[in-house]
Amino acid sequence: MTVPAALPLPAPVPAETPAIAPLRDFVVAFGTLLDQSPDEARIREEGSALLARLVARDDWLPEAFAAPHPTYYQQYLLHADSTERFSIVSFVWGPGQKTPIHDHTVWGLIGMLRGAEYNQPFALDAAGRPVPSGDPDRLEPGAVAAVSPTIGDLHRVSNAFDDRVSISIHVYGANIGGVHRHTYPEDGPRKPFVSGYSNTTLPNLWDRSKEGRRSA
Ligand SMILES: [Fe+2]
Repeated sequence: MTVPAALPLPAPVPAETPAIAPLRDFVVAFGTLLDQSPDEARIREEGSALLARLVARDDWLPEAFAAPHPTYYQQYLLHADSTERFSIVSFVWGPGQKTPIHDHTVWGLIGMLRGAEYNQPFALDAAGRPVPSGDPDRLEPGAVAAVSPTIGDLHRVSNAFDDRVSISIHVYGANIGGVHRHTYPEDGPRKPFVSGYSNTTLPNLWDRSKEGRRSA
């Protein structure tokens, strides 16, 4: 059977994959991991492998969530799980910027995307003051590190560069911007803090219109 030449051809189905797709794939994979109710060690191990895959490429983070601030490091929420089992945040370090010494109270994974950063662990001495615990790790793009109350929860993170921006992607076992936790001044008692986020809108992970038709 031949198709009459007068019939219009159907519009081609776009096949391009949006740049944000690696982040969406990570969200889906991480949720699937947590659906299996893994213990924390398995989350760290298998979650780190997923995060390593995400930060193995640096072509998916939208510019709006990679923008530095001249004074403050930025923490952009990229995704929060609907039941707040996990959240994903891009940390953007301007030249020379660093966090205070702080805890998390939940597990956290750090994946280096761009530039480099120093991750200095701390422990509390008998007086409750933070003291460095070992040497700082220098994280290069593709590297993943972990924190948690069970393996060491205090650290300070700083941009390894004083002349350019660095970015790391963090995953936490809670909606981290709303978690009540602490900073640890070196000369005084710990202070409560809730970090919040630097952004008010999130990247759209879910527009599949440019990916063609999904099979059911
Ligand atoms: Fe941290």
